[in-house]
Amino acid sequence: RGLGNKSRKQVSPPGPWPLPIIGNLLQLGEHPYLTFMEMRKKYGDVFLLRLGMVPVVVVNGMETVKQVLLKDGEHFAGRPNMHTFSFLAEGKSLSFSVNYGESWKLHKKIASNALRTFSKAEAKSSTCSCLLEEHVTEEVSELVKVFVELTSKNGSFDPRNAITCAVANVVCALCFGKRYDHSDEEFLKVVKTNDDLLKASSVANPADFIPCFRYLPLKIINAPREFYQALNRFIALHVQDHLTTYDKDHMRDITDALINTCHNKYAATKTATLNDNEIISTVSDLFGAGFETVSTCLYWSFLYLIHYPEIQATIQEEIDRNIGLKPPTFEDRKSLPYTEAFINEVFRYASFLPFTIPHCTTADTILNGYFIPRKTCTFINMYQVNHDETIWDHPNLFRPERFLNENRELNKSVVEKVLIFGMGIRKCLGEDVARNEIFIFLTTVLQQLKLQKHPRAELDLTPTYGLTMKPRPYQLQAELRSSSSSSA
Ligand code: HEM
Repeated sequence: RGLGNKSRKQVSPPGPWPLPIIGNLLQLGEHPYLTFMEMRKKYGDVFLLRLGMVPVVVVNGMETVKQVLLKDGEHFAGRPNMHTFSFLAEGKSLSFSVNYGESWKLHKKIASNALRTFSKAEAKSSTCSCLLEEHVTEEVSELVKVFVELTSKNGSFDPRNAITCAVANVVCALCFGKRYDHSDEEFLKVVKTNDDLLKASSVANPADFIPCFRYLPLKIINAPREFYQALNRFIALHVQDHLTTYDKDHMRDITDALINTCHNKYAATKTATLNDNEIISTVSDLFGAGFETVSTCLYWSFLYLIHYPEIQATIQEEIDRNIGLKPPTFEDRKSLPYTEAFINEVFRYASFLPFTIPHCTTADTILNGYFIPRKTCTFINMYQVNHDETIWDHPNLFRPERFLNENRELNKSVVEKVLIFGMGIRKCLGEDVARNEIFIFLTTVLQQLKLQKHPRAELDLTPTYGLTMKPRPYQLQAELRSSSSSSA
């Protein structure tokens, strides 16, 4: 790939001509990932833009993405110094910190270990295989009740709030071993704060791209910081409480697992470890990452289920045939290939995280023959890979069957082509947790409820662009399946 030939002229990637100061910002349009798919036709997999004053390399195409995230992963594993990220945990965030190096690697390892330790923690009741399954099962039965109540009260309802509260509760249970009533004020405040934080940071923040803007006292520029601090106070209180009540023989949640990993294992081997503030920021990273993504996925899933009632019916038949009326478990994923195919099709088709979190080069490097200097911000267009016509037959059709082989089994090699959790060094920590959680939410709801759209409503499947892309608000009706079959 032309690496190492220093005498050759260094060629920058091609790209559209930038305007002074604003660069190519005006060309991004409402859906930048689509704009980039168009630009790819002209410039190829790798091109260079200027967003404001900041040069950004955009990477498309499965092979080139693999080059960046896997083969040359170390050179692209940094995070850019963006204003929106800079206040997150005072730059110590696992997900956003610009400090990439040995101590970051240790930090990620500690967080992964804690998540793994926790995932194995034993359930309190004997019907569940682990604590995580128990929390999700408890939360989804509450969600089913809320759906039925909202339908009988209002005829139809927008499920977004109920989903957000349910998923936030799973995250609270995971992180702090505690769930909240959907009407609890402290809880609602945290849910709202997180929502506000995302809204504030999902607008392309001008200060990220035109650095002198960050000194202006504008609301859009400084709002994320205030929201983040409020969220962090909530998390810090819980972590402090855990530090005083921690018992190594009784693992309650991820916070305990983190304390365990830091205080025991690493202390014993005298390897560098996380201090209590870093534990707080790690919990806050997991809290933030595990909440918005999963609830957005469920919000899309319910929309597709009411838009394609025949797909909903196929999933329900599969559930009835294979697990009947017993509560679904993680283990059941193996026996519900169509349901698994549906979840993967939601990931691919919605691509609700169109880009990974931005990356940054840690050294000068060469990509597809182009020279990319150290500290270059890099966007990975996952949406493009998930809609690439050379990989997917009719990518713009929603078709779960594409993931099944001729025996109606899940085709793992096709599943692996969906890019939604990233790959390599910066890959998502929570993929297993997320896949298990989404499976239990969907199967339990569909085992018990028939979901329908409001008879007079037209559904719109186009997303609103943001850090995570959400559907436009919609209404659904939920009816108990036992009553629908007995009344039929
Ligand atoms: C990072 C996707 C759920 C924890 C990421 C990244 C993506 C992603 C695309 C960035 C990868 C990159 O920058 O290259 C998702 C999706 C989820 C999900 C689609 C749900 C459907 C979760 C959950 C947790 C989690 C449940 C934790 C319990 C993290 C963390 C990072 C991350 C800590 C930062 C990793 C790093 O910077 O090295 N996720 N995620 N995620 N995710 Fe997830």
